[in-house]
Amino acid sequence: MQADYDVIVADNLSNSVDTALERVKEITGKTAFFYQIDIRDKAALTEVFNQHPIDAVIHMAGLKAVGESCAEPLMYYQNNLDASMILFEVMQSFSVNKVVFSSSATVYGDPDTVPITEDFPLRMMNPYGRTKYMVEEMLRDITLASNMQAVLLRYFNPIGAHDSGLIGEDPHGIPNNLMPYIAQVAIGQREKLSVFGGDYPTVDGTGVRDYIHVVDLAKGHVKALERIAETETKQGQCLTYNLGTGRGSSVIEVINAFEKVYGDKINYEIVERRPGDVPEYFANPQLANEEMGWRAEKSLDDMMTDTWRWQSQNPNGYKDD
Ligand code: WQD
Repeated sequence: MQADYDVIVADNLSNSVDTALERVKEITGKTAFFYQIDIRDKAALTEVFNQHPIDAVIHMAGLKAVGESCAEPLMYYQNNLDASMILFEVMQSFSVNKVVFSSSATVYGDPDTVPITEDFPLRMMNPYGRTKYMVEEMLRDITLASNMQAVLLRYFNPIGAHDSGLIGEDPHGIPNNLMPYIAQVAIGQREKLSVFGGDYPTVDGTGVRDYIHVVDLAKGHVKALERIAETETKQGQCLTYNLGTGRGSSVIEVINAFEKVYGDKINYEIVERRPGDVPEYFANPQLANEEMGWRAEKSLDDMMTDTWRWQSQNPNGYKDD
């Protein structure tokens, strides 16, 4: 919106709330059109395309918890694959041929080396990663057979919040991911953080990940739209970029960085490894810089500061409204 796009949001609110859009209006002074639909509902999705001339789609509607995907694989395949096929079908029927897809670094599985470049072998290790891979494959095939322009963005570990403190991460239930869990320990909602494994072959034995500020991630999507906006060609194309900082941080390093901002200790205990976790992964983000002119700008300290501002201003997330 701040890049002057008119934005239409279609979301079933299965893991979000429409309050966030009211906060977005406070930040931008603009209102996004909002349709509370499941994009698997073809009639409802078609109606959205009937109501608005759409230039491009950013597709990030999907379930995204690795552990949950192992327990509920069919739910993940139905939600992530059906939704994508229906979306691409409706796009084609309205000749909307530009899509930016939210993919994930989980398609790389456990890499032989780090940092990871986009040409690394794809080794999905769970149903969630496999659904991301399969949607990538759909787009690789569709762009070969049509004039569809696709950009696949492989997210590393998005964390942080908007620096207004008005919008941020508010997962339903017990957080799967590290950052919201730490923030909820800090705010007193959770008693103690379990650190999953202290015996990995890493700098301090705990898992290493490439944490990227969610605002840097958002800017990567604007750059992706710009990258395909001007290309009106008959032949489709499918571009793939890692969205990461190129730096890895261990769990202990994240805890220490957060404590510096929080000004107190975070209660944690090192426990056994979490099944499915890999020891270490972080991105080589050079290609996105070369081809889209994008680079992550915010530091781990920025991510901690913005996370704590959001959590302390919204102890119960959006439920405070
Ligand atoms: C990070 C590190 C854990 C929780 C997942 C998805 C990935 C992407 C980001 C969407 C690991 C450790 C975590 C906790 C811990 N999502 N940890 N205690 O698993 O790297 O990636 O989220 O694209 O697809 O797989 O993120 O935040 O769960 O874990 O010690 O309570 O923190 O072991 O080393 P992950 P995470």
